[in-house]
Amino acid sequence: MLPNLLRELGVTGRDAALATELGYGTVRCSGVLDEILAACVDRPLTEVQPAVQDLLRLGAYQLLRTRIPPHAAVSTTIDLTRATRSARAAGFVNAVLRRVTQRDWTQWADELAGVGSSQRGLAFRTAHPEWIAAAFAVALGDDLAETEAALVADDLRPQTHLVAWPGASTVDELISAAGGEPGPYSPYAVRLDGGDPAAIDAVRDRRAGVQDEGSQLCAIALASAPIVGRDERWLDLCAGPGGKAALLAALAAERGATLYANELRPHRAELVRSVVQRWGSEVTVADARALEPIEGGYDRVLLDAPCTGLGALRRRPEARWRREPSDVVELAALQRELLAAALRLVRPGGVVAYVTCSPHVSETVEIVDGQQLVDARPLFAGVDGLGDGPWVQLWPHRHGTDAMFLALIAKPE
Ligand SMILES: C[S@@+](CC[C@H](N)C(=O)[O-])C[C@H]1O[C@@H](n2cnc3c(N)ncnc32)[C@H](O)[C@@H]1O
Repeated sequence: MLPNLLRELGVTGRDAALATELGYGTVRCSGVLDEILAACVDRPLTEVQPAVQDLLRLGAYQLLRTRIPPHAAVSTTIDLTRATRSARAAGFVNAVLRRVTQRDWTQWADELAGVGSSQRGLAFRTAHPEWIAAAFAVALGDDLAETEAALVADDLRPQTHLVAWPGASTVDELISAAGGEPGPYSPYAVRLDGGDPAAIDAVRDRRAGVQDEGSQLCAIALASAPIVGRDERWLDLCAGPGGKAALLAALAAERGATLYANELRPHRAELVRSVVQRWGSEVTVADARALEPIEGGYDRVLLDAPCTGLGALRRRPEARWRREPSDVVELAALQRELLAAALRLVRPGGVVAYVTCSPHVSETVEIVDGQQLVDARPLFAGVDGLGDGPWVQLWPHRHGTDAMFLALIAKPE
């Protein structure tokens, strides 16, 4: 919502950057800020008016996680409270924020989550719920130092990545329009340092898109996986909003193949249609579990499964506090059913890529356990730190990408 709001209000440049930092940052830290505020308010925080809670979070974020001078953070928050609520509420906000300033971020973490490098302390300092920090630790083999690096990287503002769809635009064209530099891995990626991607002509004309470089690598890996025989019909089973579908459609077109895309939700299918139509892809709206196999089957199938998104938390500031551990259980059941559908739809000798933007092992290795996996690492040319295979797990702290997971399953002939 924020980019649209900034555009509507005509806020640009440094003001837009500050508003984004305050808005996204406050939301990203909200669970931890609430613990701190609860320690500074003399009644349950939930009894404070919701709008005043938000003002307190915004003030506390500035005090604890930005270089804004404390007096400026407090006085602007008080002014905002007076202007939008009441003088009485402003007095309350003043008193609470003064208590917040008595410690810095690390001191609050030590006070409320325990000194040292416990998982709870690590989660608190990097603004993550503890269950997510625990899931990262499991995915990283319980290596505490690396878990800390992963959580710290996940707490930073991410770069925006662009994709130049082959045949429609080029990396050089994007760099001359928007700056940035070529991505280190994908031949179609540009990594930007800032700016509004929607202002770039090639993005507006749908010749390029905004897409994490890790997602690009997953689409490229499926396109380049070895298969036996015919290579004409590719399927993206859960395609909305169409990021991978667009790159796959462009790669398929270069080789005389066609991408078929499917999506459950009609409005998301519409988004897919708007980006793949230039390559003549067909888009269907259906529950993938109910799709009938076509005569001869598909040669390559992408299952980019609905998941918790724990690997893309940097880009979705609110997600870490909205997700619940029970979501993992529900989604894992759906992921298993979707994988069974993908394996029904691919032809013998063809290949399925199972992809998630979550590193949670219940959504990754446990889903593909027992399948005939092909080593996917050679398909990620030039990418280090891919582990022991046969699957690939990318990480923000290792690769500067989202934490994408990919496993490649060959259907026996
Ligand atoms: C992770 S997203 C896919 C992202 C997409 N591949 C991209 O790169 O832009 C998963 C998609 O699966 C869709 N979905 C969820 N359940 C589905 C089902 N049973 N059948 C088909 N699509 C489904 C969701 O609506 C969502 O758009």
